[in-house]
Amino acid sequence: MLKNYLEAAVEIAQEAGKILREEMERPPTIAYKGDFDLVTQADRRSEQLIVRRLEERFPQHAVAAEEGTGKDTGSDYRWHVDPLDGTTNFAHGYPCFCVSMALARAGELLLGVIYNPVYQELFTAARGEGATFNGCKIHCSKIDALKNSLLCTGFPNHKRLANPNIHYYWDFTLRSHGVRRDGSAALDLAYVAMGRFDSFWEFGLNPWDTAAGVVLVEEAGGKITDMQGQPYALGGPSILASNGLIHAEMVKVGGEIAEHTITQQ
Ligand code: IPD
Ligand code: CA
Ligand code: CA
Repeated sequence: MLKNYLEAAVEIAQEAGKILREEMERPPTIAYKGDFDLVTQADRRSEQLIVRRLEERFPQHAVAAEEGTGKDTGSDYRWHVDPLDGTTNFAHGYPCFCVSMALARAGELLLGVIYNPVYQELFTAARGEGATFNGCKIHCSKIDALKNSLLCTGFPNHKRLANPNIHYYWDFTLRSHGVRRDGSAALDLAYVAMGRFDSFWEFGLNPWDTAAGVVLVEEAGGKITDMQGQPYALGGPSILASNGLIHAEMVKVGGEIAEHTITQQ
């Protein structure tokens, strides 16, 4: 059954990806959900397609989609859908964005699919079955020290001033090969799963941003917690993903940064 769900999610994500590619050829139609929180016609069209296809195939399942067109059927099965993760990148023609879909049963994440339609990069994972990139098995990196790592983080589009991450960004940059800020949390997590990044963290993400990436990282042998090293809950205040080998060091340094940040304020 899991295989059927995964195949359906891949087909739907690829169909939604076609819409994003089409929309990329047009001038973007940008509206604002907050001062810096963009939404485009591409977000809406992609979500419409995904929600419709999920309804056709799995009418009983609940769907939680970022732009609000999903429905809560009361089912144990719930899809977490980000129809376009990386909207700001999309709106500026920076080809780092994706479709992200995950399925959970009674709160347990079963599978995740992340698709970058520009580079046609498809990431999939199913619980207990491993993770793949364009059909080939993937694993997290083997880097075992923060000083040799390439990291990634992100900054939210809302309540920017209340976000402490600039302190973490600065400190981790000095302690590693560098910290990238690519603007798509789902792809950032997928890149941890395939070893392009050794760790990723962010504050204030929503379930649709992280659900698929969490399954990918765990199935690729990595680790997911919050910034304190405690179990991560979807929609929780922070997420820390890593190859597992530098996780304890990330948590330790994160704790030191948090202490400085508090005393500076
Ligand atoms: C955003 C991206 C970005 C992250 C933001 C998210 P959206 O999602 O994942 O990388 O830093 O916090 O809101 O709005 O492009 O779907
Ligand atoms: Ca998102
Ligand atoms: Ca989005």
